Amino acid sequence: MIYLKTEEEVELMRQSNQLLGMAYGEVAKAIAPGVTTAQLDKIANEFICDHGGIPSCLGFEGYPATLCTSVNEQIVHGIPSKDVVLRDGDIVSVDGCVLLNGFHADSAYTFPVGNVAEDVLQLMRTTKECLYLGIEQAVTGHRLGDVSFAIQNHAERAGYSVCREYVGHGIGRNMHEDPEVCNYGRRGNGIVLKSGMTLAIEPMILMGRRNVILEDDGWTARTADRKPAAHYELSICVRNGKADILSTFDYIQQVLGDRFI
Ligand code: MF3
Ligand code: CO
Repeated sequence: MIYLKTEEEVELMRQSNQLLGMAYGEVAKAIAPGVTTAQLDKIANEFICDHGGIPSCLGFEGYPATLCTSVNEQIVHGIPSKDVVLRDGDIVSVDGCVLLNGFHADSAYTFPVGNVAEDVLQLMRTTKECLYLGIEQAVTGHRLGDVSFAIQNHAERAGYSVCREYVGHGIGRNMHEDPEVCNYGRRGNGIVLKSGMTLAIEPMILMGRRNVILEDDGWTARTADRKPAAHYELSICVRNGKADILSTFDYIQQVLGDRFI
């Protein structure tokens, strides 16, 4: 069941997404070699709660934290820990959700830690390009497969692979709603997109092969070949002509300055 949102509902979703974006700005300020992923989680938790939001990943199907913090070869759902210390040259994918005014926000960003190798920076750039190319396709009258194809095509042309085990999704009063938004697919396939559909589009792109392993904690997904992965996510509303991006990386950009990819 796909829930089309009214204009008022979309504005509420924009508010929850703005709060999440601001929380990521605070996280961005803290990211540096020597910082633990548990510290990042605490910063996000406090910021979201202080501003009236609910960190909605916390407790979701038993998930134990506000953020997912996935380092280097970890793709998604890495659990923050005081034992995970970020080091110079790492990348950390931060993913989280906020519930505000009855609507969930969802976005993700892969951050550099100190000086990151050029080939890894290139993976990050390409993954973010995949996200925006997918979003460009998320307009009224296109099909979901157009979004999926745009993402896969850009990633694979660059020599990377697409994670297939985890996908984007509809979002709204529920964190995960229909439809599933795969990061691979064929142009012209899938449902026709309608104005008022709200989607979390989230390419997870792998530098190496696409095989994925679930770690023993039951949450963390990593690449089998231990090559790095990047993950960027924005929540959008399908519109005529141009997708309306409800999430924001602006606060991250303000903090990272010329290190913003
Ligand atoms: N933000 C994640 C997503 O994109 C949420 C995963 S659920 C969690 O769907 F419990 F692992 F956080
Ligand atoms: Co999501």
